[in-house]
Amino acid sequence: MSTTPHVVISDVTRVHGTGETAVTALDHVSLEIHPGELVAVMGPSGSGKSTLLNVAGGLDRPTSGTVSIGGDTLGDLGPRDLAQLRRRRMGFVFQDYNLIPSLTAAENVALPLELDGTRARLARRQARHTLDLMNLMELSDRYPDQMSGGQQQRVAIARALVGTRRFVLADEPTGALDSHTGEEVLRVLRERCDAGVAGLLVTHEARHAAWADRVVFLRDGRVVDTTGAERAEDLLAGDGAR
Ligand SMILES: Nc1ncnc2c1ncn2[C@@H]1O[C@H](COP(=O)(O)OP(=O)(O)OP(=O)(O)O)[C@@H](O)[C@H]1O
Ligand SMILES: [Mg+2]
Repeated sequence: MSTTPHVVISDVTRVHGTGETAVTALDHVSLEIHPGELVAVMGPSGSGKSTLLNVAGGLDRPTSGTVSIGGDTLGDLGPRDLAQLRRRRMGFVFQDYNLIPSLTAAENVALPLELDGTRARLARRQARHTLDLMNLMELSDRYPDQMSGGQQQRVAIARALVGTRRFVLADEPTGALDSHTGEEVLRVLRERCDAGVAGLLVTHEARHAAWADRVVFLRDGRVVDTTGAERAEDLLAGDGAR
């Protein structure tokens, strides 16, 4: 593992709303993710997991504290540079795949590159390369409705990591899948991290968190425990987090 963290979340607080209705979704959270590392985030509903992902991915800004990716502090960037960093250096995976139905798998994976100005032919070639790396070549020419949920989600991971992206953020990526298919998706995510990607994964399931190098438990926006994956199941059982 590299000694320089790829993602540094430093003392981040995020307050949604103001006055009497203000909600502190994150309360002084710090977290580092190195290249090659998969960090899982667990915690009860409303504990701040999605807020943490959104802040880490620059979709939401901290009220205080900083987030930096590959040495660039997101808060220092203007909207244009932030958008570019997000396009080039990170990818999101959500519960509901979000593939575009009218595009094939390869076209879906090529899309982020094309949106960033890569010419269609080159983007398509890179997309196929990424699909090939992930053993998904056979899906290249299929449309989303010709793939299973698990296949769509693996393609979504390919789309999140095509090109130069080295940070994947996944919010309940297995939430819509049966547990066997969910494991397949986690295996693919794990492999990408083993190949050097930094990963941040929100999950409710201890068996999925067990694929991570570390599990961070949130409660009321605070990190209440951090553990190696082997203790995730025990902690969850004792903690009643779900
Ligand atoms: N845009 C928003 N405006 C106001 N409050 C918000 C907003 N987004 C989140 N919150 C509040 O912040 C807290 C944390 O929400 P968050 O969505 O991060 O939780 P979560 O851990 O992802 O929950 P779940 O497991 O249900 O997805 C909750 O109290 C939520 O109601
Ligand atoms: Mg959430």
